[in-house]
Amino acid sequence: MRAVILGAAAGGGFPQWNSNAEGCRRARAGDPAAKPRNQASLAVSADGDHWFLLNATPDLRAQIERAPFLHPRHGLRSTPIAGVVLTDGNVDAIAGLLTLREREAFTIHATASVLGVLDENPVFEVLARDVVAREAVTLDVPRPLRLAGGAPSGLALTLFAVPGKVPLYLERPGEAPAIIEGEETVGAMISDGARHLYFIPGCARVTPSLLARLAGADALFFDGTMWRDDEMIRAGIGTKTGLRMGHISVGGENGTLAAFRDCPIPHRILVHINNSNPILLSDSPEHAAVLAAGWRVGEDGMEITL
Ligand code: MLT
Ligand code: MN
Repeated sequence: MRAVILGAAAGGGFPQWNSNAEGCRRARAGDPAAKPRNQASLAVSADGDHWFLLNATPDLRAQIERAPFLHPRHGLRSTPIAGVVLTDGNVDAIAGLLTLREREAFTIHATASVLGVLDENPVFEVLARDVVAREAVTLDVPRPLRLAGGAPSGLALTLFAVPGKVPLYLERPGEAPAIIEGEETVGAMISDGARHLYFIPGCARVTPSLLARLAGADALFFDGTMWRDDEMIRAGIGTKTGLRMGHISVGGENGTLAAFRDCPIPHRILVHINNSNPILLSDSPEHAAVLAAGWRVGEDGMEITL
């Protein structure tokens, strides 16, 4: 199985269009220690010819152009993209579907709740239903991922609930949304029968049951949104904590590095990294702390083979 990071940044990307904060300024200036990143997506394949995208970000068109393995190879029109798996209904997870609207056959795999978001927004009807299938995935039930013609891809998908919240635009004004475990925010496990890869770009808490589930993982791509819960408030660029946005922090005694301290997953990579997070700067002490804890900071183009 091959997995390639198409984007490692959170919603907004790095740099974010309206941010003039130091990290974004360094990224715009071409500082090699502040590499730009697209919004979070992973491409996975069993055979290197057919690929599944985990989330479709607003950057998808540029992500495809930068990834030769996603370019059309057969006839006048075709695509190696056999399907798209959605982990939530946020803009940075679904808006790229609109890029895939040229009557090319592929399948969207998501929970009934996330498919409901697509169903309720008529703009997604540009993905003609006679060409682009929408398949509702039941939590915790593994299913084979098939190619457009129905042939097996060699990969199977399991979606599972993680602590999260409703998408930002479905929050009720003036009310902090509850942290819930349901179909709104899920993790994806991709298996080729022998190896198990987990993609969890949004997660509010590392629970004992999540740790137990991940015990046999060969690779984990995990929520790296914030370094510290109040970093946007301290930087004067926002009023929300990470937890308020449904994201655990990387650092601190209740953070991701601490939660996974005793977890022997061979490949641990942070993705969905917000532009406020100092781990994006490779000369920062926070970046060094991530590496010292046995994790990697996700970068666009980073590839692992399992
Ligand atoms: C998130 O992951 O918290 C959301 O993508 C936020 C957003 O939509 O900007
Ligand atoms: Mn997001």
